[in-house]
Amino acid sequence: MKNITILGATGSIGSSTLSVISRHPQKFSVFAMSANTNWRSMAELCNKFEPRFAVMSDSVSASKLKHALEIDTIVMSGSEALCEIASHHETDYVMAAIVGSTGMPSALAAANAGKRVMLANKESLVLAGEIFIGAIKKSGAELIPVDSEHSAIFQCLNGDTLSNEKGVATTDEVYSSVVKVQLTASGGPFFRKPIDEFMSITPEQACAHPNWSMGKKISVDSATMMNKGLEAIEAHYLFALHPDQIDIVIHPQSIIHSSVYFKDGSTLSQLGSPDMRTAVSYALSYPTRIESGVSPVDLTKQSLDFYIPDNKRFPCLGLAIDALKMGGCCMGTINAANEIAVSSFLENKIKFLDIHKVIEQTLSLVPFSKNESLAQVMSNDELAREVASEVARSYA
Ligand SMILES: NC(=O)c1ccc[n+]([C@@H]2O[C@H](COP(=O)([O-])OP(=O)(O)OC[C@H]3O[C@@H](n4cnc5c(N)ncnc54)[C@H](OP(=O)(O)O)[C@@H]3O)[C@@H](O)[C@H]2O)c1
Repeated sequence: MKNITILGATGSIGSSTLSVISRHPQKFSVFAMSANTNWRSMAELCNKFEPRFAVMSDSVSASKLKHALEIDTIVMSGSEALCEIASHHETDYVMAAIVGSTGMPSALAAANAGKRVMLANKESLVLAGEIFIGAIKKSGAELIPVDSEHSAIFQCLNGDTLSNEKGVATTDEVYSSVVKVQLTASGGPFFRKPIDEFMSITPEQACAHPNWSMGKKISVDSATMMNKGLEAIEAHYLFALHPDQIDIVIHPQSIIHSSVYFKDGSTLSQLGSPDMRTAVSYALSYPTRIESGVSPVDLTKQSLDFYIPDNKRFPCLGLAIDALKMGGCCMGTINAANEIAVSSFLENKIKFLDIHKVIEQTLSLVPFSKNESLAQVMSNDELAREVASEVARSYA
């Protein structure tokens, strides 16, 4: 029996995780869960899964949750409590599924404590990739990707002699037989929308993803393709790849989740329905497989199309790749600027087309630093948020 801590239990990935766990009560037990403010959903989840601990980041929501519970779950609040449940000695596996850079410290706490880290929070690697991978290696933790593209690459690599018993980041070895990886992108809701109509895009339209059901922030990131840029950075750290080895292709059906091209001419791809329970179940069951509730695709009823992304349509993608090539603090800077720009857009303060402008200007205004310590990472994140907020205000 494995004790699972779910950081971000009330979100989309949290719910996929609980769905898979519910199918395997003899294998997994929910030890701790977290949310931010959504105490009503958390109360329902606690009453159903009876975790030992529940953490609400927001203290007012924590006291509401305490009053709503009919069971003995211990309720805590604040960011330290998140790190506590992530590193608790009775926690075996941690699902890191808080959205945004707020999810980084608790994911890092799990990495430092030597847990199996099931990483959905890509921002942890975008913000502090080297520090995070360093922590995994030092503590002997397992790092299993949950993002569907990286899970796909991980699964393709496991079919090869490059398989790695402890997840993806425990070796310094650059995968010498890999020519490149190809991340697939759906193209989001605006792949075919005329560019001259982009000015009037609403948050509702941007959140209506054609294939995947996800939280609002990642849905907007998919619409701008910033999500794929962040995933390129994630792939760079997870699989020790040079930026030139990371290719991106639009595949509107979201059936091929990503591919690995090897030097002998082979290409391995992982296929499946666009349902995060597959990647979540693989992270839970690795190196074996368990039932996830997802039906396999029927290839006789499915066409598979591929297109090269258009940089004019998706400028955020180019900005993220530039930041990856620039290195140092630039990845953290675009991540912070993107979080500010997306939340301003979701609050109807700026337009969809302003998102990339906020990111580009923030990147040009925040001075370059190497980001070698966690303190530097955090102070760059703070500065980039201040600058981005100021820039976003100028578009409001
Ligand atoms: N959804 C997907 O299909 C998908 C796929 C691949 C990767 N990911 C990644 O997985 C992560 C989660 O995405 P999601 O779509 O599941 O997000 P989501 O549905 O928006 O859920 C986010 C979760 O994080 C919590 N949270 C939000 N702000 C917080 C804060 N300031 N402090 C602590 N907790 C906070 C939320 O709690 P409340 O409910 O209380 O707000 C909720 O439990 C993201 O990094 C995303 O990029 C998601």
